[in-house]
Amino acid sequence: MAKEKAVFVCSACGQAHAKWQGQCDGCGSWNSLSQGKAVAVSTGRKSSGGFSGQAAAVQSLASVAVEEQPRWSMGLDEFDRVLGGGLVPGGVVLLGGDPGIGKSTLLLQALAQQVRLSPESGVIYVTGEESVSQVALRAQRLGLDAVALDRIQILAETQVETILATLASAKPRMVVIDSIQTMFSEEIGSAPGSVSQVRETAAALTRWAKSNGVGLFLVGHVTKEGALAGPRVLEHMVDAVLYFEGDPQASFRVVRAIKNRFGTVNELGVFGMTDKGLKAVSNPSALFLSSRYQGSEDGGAPVPGSCVLVTQEGSRPLLVEVQALVDTSRVPNPRRLCVGLDPQRLAMLLAVMHRHAGLACFDQDVYLNAVGGVRVTETASDLALLAAVVSSMRNRPLPVGLVVFGEVGLAGEVRPSVRGQERLREAARLGFSRAVVPAANAPKKPIEGLDVIPVKSLSQALDCLFER
Ligand code: TYD
Ligand code: MG
Repeated sequence: MAKEKAVFVCSACGQAHAKWQGQCDGCGSWNSLSQGKAVAVSTGRKSSGGFSGQAAAVQSLASVAVEEQPRWSMGLDEFDRVLGGGLVPGGVVLLGGDPGIGKSTLLLQALAQQVRLSPESGVIYVTGEESVSQVALRAQRLGLDAVALDRIQILAETQVETILATLASAKPRMVVIDSIQTMFSEEIGSAPGSVSQVRETAAALTRWAKSNGVGLFLVGHVTKEGALAGPRVLEHMVDAVLYFEGDPQASFRVVRAIKNRFGTVNELGVFGMTDKGLKAVSNPSALFLSSRYQGSEDGGAPVPGSCVLVTQEGSRPLLVEVQALVDTSRVPNPRRLCVGLDPQRLAMLLAVMHRHAGLACFDQDVYLNAVGGVRVTETASDLALLAAVVSSMRNRPLPVGLVVFGEVGLAGEVRPSVRGQERLREAARLGFSRAVVPAANAPKKPIEGLDVIPVKSLSQALDCLFER
């Protein structure tokens, strides 16, 4: 006996509800429920406690033969890095990002490298958004050679059944689906881009890729809030979720691994966008410093409100400049605005600063910016962030050649950061001469050219920085 039952499905996370309501229980988004297709819910009772089926054999972990398969290089160092050293054969990767940031460009370049690195295997680019000629135009613009143009197969199709049949007969090694929101399956009633379509088409493509050992890239759209559109289940299905960050206007792009079953999360790949497509940036650690630190004409004169921090994103340290502007507020609720940093964290740190260092900002607007459009997610940025705020507040510049890192706790203590030595060595390598760091991160052996000042608390750090 099967009974038809109406469900209301959230367009953001895919959770099903029995009745309509304003807010989704699953993800908390408002007004996102719409009536989904009725699903058959079986009410029939089965024998033997409600379940029936054949028993399957289990085996011990030791008896599983593990073959170490070499990863596939994508031909771009930085792309390999975010994937954790290349793509695992049969790996499924979801690539998200704002429109026009370079998703299609990056994947077309990756396919071109793929046919060059392994000439015997085919690759297919499935486009649901652009016409075949638009993709060809991009390939021309990228300056792809005749071999690549000859070997990359292109298919303008959105129906997943046709795509699967085509893939099964063409037997490619790598496939790009651009984008998953344009794909649809005949068997599902709803429009392309809806939760059930995205989920089912992605599941079908993923299943196919896994069972055939094919590398699959899915391009995903983002919502205006910046999250990957479509159901969260998409993120659970795939092996890696990569996300393009940064400003589409700026010339460089950052790809971050948000999830990776075969590598480090938060790993960053840095690319420059040129007129010939994306190029890997080999030494990105100084990219996020303003031109003052890169030998500009004003000779590196210090300005108030700027502080350089060392953040460890993924497996490598990056130097990032944070800028703060503190100004008298004219509104009852002073503004706390952050670009590339967490505003909630800032509010908390300002409270800690008031309580433990006696510096109040409750009548001041505070603006913070991480230079270069990079997003800093680490708590090790706390101390540098407060140093920039105090520097702006007092109109006292911090010395050039100074780096700061360390987490600030609610008790006003400065906590150690992971991989402190690596951060310090990177700062020294880039010519920084002084570092204010958590006491636990002070190096046992001195680092050449770097004067390390260990601090235990926020007030001690501010004393060192501003000689109060
Ligand atoms: P695209 O890859 O189509 O972005 P997405 O698929 O994420 O929407 O386009 C990236 C942008 O980069 C586009 O605005 C044009 C620009 N671009 C270059 O600057 N140089 C190039 O060689 C190419 C191909 C694109
Ligand atoms: Mg595109």
